[in-house]
Amino acid sequence: MTDHWTPASWRAKPAKHIPEDYPDLAALARVEQTLRGMPPLVFAGEARRLKSLLGDVAGGRAFLLQGGDCAESFKEFHADNIRDTFRLILQMAVVLTFAGGKPVVKLGRMAGQFAKPRSSPVETINGVELPSYRGDNINGMEFDAESRAPDPERLLKAYSQSASTLNLLRAFAGGGYADLYNIHRWTLGFVSDSPQGAKYRELSEKISEALTFMAAIGVTPDNHRELHQVEFFTSHEALLLGYEEAMTRVDSTSGDWYDTSAHLVWIGERTRQLDGAHVEFFRGIKNPLGLKCGPTMEGDDLLRLIDVLNPHNEPGRLTLYGRFGSDKIADRLPRLLQATKKAGRSVVWAIDPMHGNTLTAANGYKTRPFDRILSEVRSFVEICKAEGVHPGGVHLEMTGQNVTECLGGARAVSEGDLADRYHTHCDPRLNGEQALELAFLVAEKLKDDRLDATLRAAV
Ligand code: PEP
Ligand code: CO
Repeated sequence: MTDHWTPASWRAKPAKHIPEDYPDLAALARVEQTLRGMPPLVFAGEARRLKSLLGDVAGGRAFLLQGGDCAESFKEFHADNIRDTFRLILQMAVVLTFAGGKPVVKLGRMAGQFAKPRSSPVETINGVELPSYRGDNINGMEFDAESRAPDPERLLKAYSQSASTLNLLRAFAGGGYADLYNIHRWTLGFVSDSPQGAKYRELSEKISEALTFMAAIGVTPDNHRELHQVEFFTSHEALLLGYEEAMTRVDSTSGDWYDTSAHLVWIGERTRQLDGAHVEFFRGIKNPLGLKCGPTMEGDDLLRLIDVLNPHNEPGRLTLYGRFGSDKIADRLPRLLQATKKAGRSVVWAIDPMHGNTLTAANGYKTRPFDRILSEVRSFVEICKAEGVHPGGVHLEMTGQNVTECLGGARAVSEGDLADRYHTHCDPRLNGEQALELAFLVAEKLKDDRLDATLRAAV
């Protein structure tokens, strides 16, 4: 790895999953130039703030909740969808904060999560072979040659959609929607008559009682802004490095480079090669970073990647997402936890229970059984505990919409139900009810942890 880094130095390295078949490369270069002149979407100070909060997670003092679509799309772009995922995250965060007794860092897979790595570069239907769909910022999902050709104009549309999404998220987070006094209103309509809805009502009543008590002693949203607003951050997989490079700017306060397309960006399982383009790009930006760790990763590989991505061992700089599958986690995770612990590396360990648990149902739908997702999360917390590592967070593909994409959950979505409301542009997402059910399960685990710690402190 050479020492000299620029936002473009990744271009000299082998790059995976970045399309090279743009029909007009000059048009792509023009679009990237236009993007260089667009306002940044986030401010470096906000990315530093997120890093500091993730430092609390690394130190065991907070918990990370990260979630949103597998792939945002132009078609599903609507204020209601943004609001519903946002309020689901708020609701889950309340459940987790109440049980764990620790702050929850709220991070959307939103406002920029478009580009997808695909298992095959081509798709064949009825003998016709076309390039695979790669995300709305690259090509279109419709199965015809025209929409499957990469179109650089899509990058501008994705930028604009990210800006509007972020604008609405900021308004919700700071403008009163997230006021803790609104806690009863965050329940999604279709969730309210479910067992999770009832459980949530019980919890929100307890919190409301506490708020009434606090108001009586003078603590109100007027004099305590934290009751009136939340801190909310955005993230995506920074797969399309041309776009990320164009959004990378020098921060005038610190003189450092920040990728201003999101607060946190992560490297996917398929692009984490030590000498590859993605690791090269990531090492030079100062944002907090994420790295997916799948079943083939060994402790040595991980430590070499950490040397490059977090050479100064800064807490909050690097979040690792295990994504092994419920059947592999017990075999794969312990050695990675032992490697980081033994080497004294300060990282956030979180779990992505989605990407190792995908299967194709008999009727052809790509799906994920909810009980495997729950099982991987449960194993994660237990293994972390056994290894003396803080189970720092969860990374979920989820939506506030009432979709039928993952099997199971309290309403037992069956294979036959998948066709009813299967809207995802890529991987199957948890619906609002399933996501809340998962939050309650994690909450139980965190509560056990908290009680154990209290007991340990008492003896
Ligand atoms: C994703 O998070 O959508 C993804 C592609 O994950 P992974 O890199 O872990 O496969
Ligand atoms: Co996915």
